[in-house]
Amino acid sequence: MENNRIAVFASGRGSNFKSILEKTLSGYIPAKIKLLITDKNDAGAINIAHANQIPVRVFSPKEFPDKSVLHSQMLNHLVDCQITHIILAGYLKLISTEIVREFENKILNIHPALLPSFGGKGMYGHHVHEAIYDHGCKVSGVSVHLVNEKYDTGPIVAQKCVSIEDVQSADEIAQRVLEIEHEIYPFAVKALVENRLKLHGRRVEILGEN
Ligand code: GRF
Repeated sequence: MENNRIAVFASGRGSNFKSILEKTLSGYIPAKIKLLITDKNDAGAINIAHANQIPVRVFSPKEFPDKSVLHSQMLNHLVDCQITHIILAGYLKLISTEIVREFENKILNIHPALLPSFGGKGMYGHHVHEAIYDHGCKVSGVSVHLVNEKYDTGPIVAQKCVSIEDVQSADEIAQRVLEIEHEIYPFAVKALVENRLKLHGRRVEILGEN
């Protein structure tokens, strides 16, 4: 467990960060969160990190106008902190090629829709739920996937759907989806750090699950 050292990346309020943190503290996920990386000085996730003595590092594009400097400093910092796994929890920036290569199949992301629908650049947060509401979808859900160099296209690790047939707003969809995010993400993170994800091309088998 001491060997599994997670860095969480978050740009927003950090409710998924919190739910994963709780599951590491309870021992359900055999890992420790050693670092929070954010691109926003005012991300709510920072408060959660501070309250739990988790070091925070802000890599804001304003401070690093040169993307390649930002990317290399970020990678160096992850290596210095001996990070073994990266968990994206509402992080809005694309992960650099260098980091994807260094942490091959060790990075997870959660997306608040059933991929490959309603994913890709610009499809985040309320944009996703509004598009789904406007489209008149009867179900939505959550996808957890391994991270590659493009938005929302890595192999899918876990998905869960929820009926939205009776909702009156995009906010209501967001609420229902967030509830299942907090169930499914810890489950997927646990499988990742326990080394139970087996890839068959694009298909991901979770070992030890029936
Ligand atoms: C979640 O809906 C997640 O699926 C998406 O960004 C949102 C982050 O929410 N990637 P929170 O900051 O974890 O509350």
